[in-house]
Amino acid sequence: MYVCLCQGVTDGQIRDAIYEGCCSYREVREATGVATRCGKCACVAKQVVRETLSDV
Ligand code: FES
Repeated sequence: MYVCLCQGVTDGQIRDAIYEGCCSYREVREATGVATRCGKCACVAKQVVRETLSDV
């Protein structure tokens, strides 16, 4: 599912970024570009990061 339409980032890409070593929302944002444009996706993106970090 697309989390960020501006940058075309999916929840899978956010998870992969975490599995590959990102350990914060900020790092995921830098790695994927999520929420770097309109910012509407920030809430959902943060939630995906939080959920993924809590089960890594
Ligand atoms: Fe993510 Fe616009 S939808 S920055």
